[in-house]
Amino acid sequence: MTSLRELIRSRRSTFDFNPGPVPLDDVRELFEAGIWAPNHKLTQPWRFIHLGEQTRSVLRLRYAELQKQKGPDMSEAAQQERYAKGMQKFDSKPTIVAVSCSQEGSEIQKREDYAATCCAMQNVALAAWDAGVGMQWSTGPMTREAATYELLDIDTNREYIIGFFYMGYPCKTSRTRRKSIDEVFRTTE
Ligand SMILES: Cc1cc2nc3c(=O)[nH]c(=O)nc-3n(C[C@H](O)[C@H](O)[C@H](O)COP(=O)(O)O)c2cc1C
Repeated sequence: MTSLRELIRSRRSTFDFNPGPVPLDDVRELFEAGIWAPNHKLTQPWRFIHLGEQTRSVLRLRYAELQKQKGPDMSEAAQQERYAKGMQKFDSKPTIVAVSCSQEGSEIQKREDYAATCCAMQNVALAAWDAGVGMQWSTGPMTREAATYELLDIDTNREYIIGFFYMGYPCKTSRTRRKSIDEVFRTTE
């Protein structure tokens, strides 16, 4: 059995998935781990939206368009290639869940609610990793566009999308590194 400490250290963002979505019931169960995150004044600010096929088909085109726009000086053919690759890349994300947090009340409450939603997502990521499901947090431009808020029926005045979570069964585990604890931890007199 993996200890909690081992689970925390071994979790990696997943960028390459095997084909096939995570079954919806399993996704719901993993996100249930999110709702136990700490949150000040029990505001429970998190909202999770599992994207269905119709929604994906709209975002897929936008995602491809944004990929294409990354090379404005390229030839038409090269831009078309970027567009096609963009669609393939989007399709390679088997399951997508948009996560938003309530942004109501004072500036302090908004900060705290954002923080709490991030805590929720780490709970979900760890529960997922424990179950053999990988995730990548994305804050790409699509997550910030008015059209995305409209598509997902999210009121920009009341909620903020903290990210899209790409999920699936990992086919490759990425590598990473960290500063040592000595570099980031200190004590005072
Ligand atoms: C708030 C937040 C936003 C992120 N946005 C992106 C993103 O837009 N694109 C991306 O490739 N990774 C994104 N990541 C994932 C990081 O790249 C990843 O966590 C980092 O490389 C460390 O790797 P690890 O998660 O495997 O420890 C994001 C992570 C966080 C916490």
